[in-house]
Amino acid sequence: RSYEYIEVSEPRPGVGQVTLNRPKALNALCSPLIGELNTALREFQASPTVAAVVLTGSERAFAAGADIKEMAPLTFSEAYSKSFIESWSDLTTALKKPLIAAVSGHALGGGCELALMADILYCTATANFGQPEIKLGTIPGAGGSQRLTRAVGKSKAMELILTGKSFTGEEAERWGVAARVFPTYEALLEGALKTAETIAGYSKVAVQAAKEVVNKSQDLALRDGVEYERRVFHALFGSQDQKIGMKAFAEKKKPEWSHQ
Ligand code: HXC
Repeated sequence: RSYEYIEVSEPRPGVGQVTLNRPKALNALCSPLIGELNTALREFQASPTVAAVVLTGSERAFAAGADIKEMAPLTFSEAYSKSFIESWSDLTTALKKPLIAAVSGHALGGGCELALMADILYCTATANFGQPEIKLGTIPGAGGSQRLTRAVGKSKAMELILTGKSFTGEEAERWGVAARVFPTYEALLEGALKTAETIAGYSKVAVQAAKEVVNKSQDLALRDGVEYERRVFHALFGSQDQKIGMKAFAEKKKPEWSHQ
């Protein structure tokens, strides 16, 4: 399959990669690009060879936001009746496999929100994050006010969203938005692919369950979340891989996962 706005590859065993590739517009996220991204992620979800996915942009821009030129003439009734932006959520619902965002350069507006949707966020120290929508007379529309607030707390999120000021990759790491920072784009991509490869080496059933329960923590109260985790933990005693993993430990062998 060939795409216009993204590139898709399988650079390592078990690892899929999507590279946003609309350089002339700093990877501004026009609707066709989001459509292609959704298609690629659905194919990775269905693929028997891919177990974890890395999403990146270029060194200069992860994504400079939703496409301002596309949004400028939209009316309320068009946006509402077409559920504009809703399809972005496919990213978080259709993909059960772990998604690592590798962010270099600009990650602004919808680009920042896209990065926040990933399961793990890695970035360069100089990455440029922000929610500048207020400067355009609007607000974040793809979850930024919710995910950024959960990540950095209310006061800091308010300051960022009300002033439109950007923050660096180094700050993102310090505030817990990013799991790790890297000095260069090359090191960033290598780090993301290595982590994806590590994850791809584990039981697919256990990995899917782990992602599912961590994500539940964002939606449920603590007591409900702990109970949910325990149910899924119990369920994994019904998997072959739990037996394989624990038997291998006892025998001091490397587990050969059945992914069942
Ligand atoms: C459409 C964009 C764009 C965007 C950049 N471009 N960002 N086009 N939508 N979000 C285009 C520019 O128009 C320009 O095209 C080309 O990319 C290069 O950009 P320059 O501005 O010339 O580059 P530079 O001077 O290096 O500045 C980089 C920048 C700036 C700081 C990132 O481009 C910028 O401020 N962009 C907008 C960032 C933003 O406000 N994002 C939030 C969007 S609102 P031409 O044709 O002139 O060469 C949003 C809402 C989300 O995301 C809500 C729901 C998803």
